Amino acid sequence: MTELSDLELIHPLKLFDIAKNEKRFLYASAPMVRYSKLAFRQTVYAYGTDLCWTPMILAKEFNRNRFARDSDFTISTNGPQPPTIVQFGANVPQELARASSLVAPFSNGVDLNCGCPQSWACAETLGAALMEKRELVRDMVVETREQLRRDGWAVDKEKDINNPKGRSVSVKIRVHKDLRKTIDFIATVLGPERDRHIDWLTIHPRTRSTPSSTPINLEALEILTSTFGTRVPILLSGDVFALNALPFTSPLLTTRPTITTTTTPPRDITSCSSEHPRHNQPPTSLPNLPHVSGLMSARAILCNPALYAGHSTCPWSAVEAFLNNAVRCPLPFKLVLHHLSEMCGPGMGADKSALLTKPERAAMMACGNMLDLIDFLDGRRGVRRGIFTL
Ligand SMILES: Cc1cc2nc3c(=O)[nH]c(=O)nc-3n(C[C@H](O)[C@H](O)[C@H](O)COP(=O)(O)O)c2cc1C
Repeated sequence: MTELSDLELIHPLKLFDIAKNEKRFLYASAPMVRYSKLAFRQTVYAYGTDLCWTPMILAKEFNRNRFARDSDFTISTNGPQPPTIVQFGANVPQELARASSLVAPFSNGVDLNCGCPQSWACAETLGAALMEKRELVRDMVVETREQLRRDGWAVDKEKDINNPKGRSVSVKIRVHKDLRKTIDFIATVLGPERDRHIDWLTIHPRTRSTPSSTPINLEALEILTSTFGTRVPILLSGDVFALNALPFTSPLLTTRPTITTTTTPPRDITSCSSEHPRHNQPPTSLPNLPHVSGLMSARAILCNPALYAGHSTCPWSAVEAFLNNAVRCPLPFKLVLHHLSEMCGPGMGADKSALLTKPERAAMMACGNMLDLIDFLDGRRGVRRGIFTL
């Protein structure tokens, strides 16, 4: 973690406010273990993302190990510093509070992961296992807010919206099979009507055991947002594949023109599948969800970091931006390759055109180092249009 003084950070609730005034959703990039590192966050920020999540960081390790801190959380000292929410995995109030205290000077807010379904996490009462521990989650966010206040941060939510010391505390959840349990969970974690414990809530409307290929539970989202959406801003995480293909309507859904990448090669039929059935279904009448304040994308933004700028597929310029950022804020080479294979393949939206064909992507994956990779992409892009300017 880099030392940096005088970092002026915007309060995330101010970003919600700005988006609302612009009659649009707040655009967020999801926490993604391995992937939502600085170089990627900078890339999506360049394409209109308002708020970027780090991958989940284990608070206990972060508190105890300097090397864990250095490897898990990096910020930019001289490049764009996207508004950043650091997400922690924790199950002890003091651990979350301590880790939050460590990152508060360098981040806009902290978030608690109550959604990770992986068995190792649940076995340790982390992630989705916390959905059965609502009092513990409440205690963790209360303790964290108090610790941040003791440290001199401004944690009074809307009251501190213009305060450069303003920091947020939020929670990301899944839903239960029995939605009454989710309602009890949220009511407990929110706390008092007039002084809620969290700045906002992110809902991933799938249960711990729902596969990500199953569409999100819109009915659950409708009930939860209509019950709590006037008390707390709610972000939707799940199936945000394209701005013009959301499975609901909203007053914040101002239609923007979709930008189609003009240099895309012919449709990559080999990689097209019916993995994302919603896009193969005829349009039906969509529910109106007026209390969703923001959108959080994971799999789709991984494929297309320019999603919120209205691009229907990943443009070459985003590949170029990502490579530039990855050179300046290094990532393991295999990870760079994986990012690029996602960005150059068919994305999650209805437009399945891809920057590279399947054989071309296989050739890219065979590159052994960064120089070969840049040469390869230069060559491919040169064939399509221009060359990279790294
Ligand atoms: C590769 C990957 C890593 C993820 N890591 C995290 C994480 O660290 N913390 C978290 O809360 N959710 C994590 N998620 C879940 C996403 O944030 C998101 O809630 C989920 O993928 C649904 O959104 P989507 O339909 O846009 O993919 C991850 C998802 C993916 C695909």
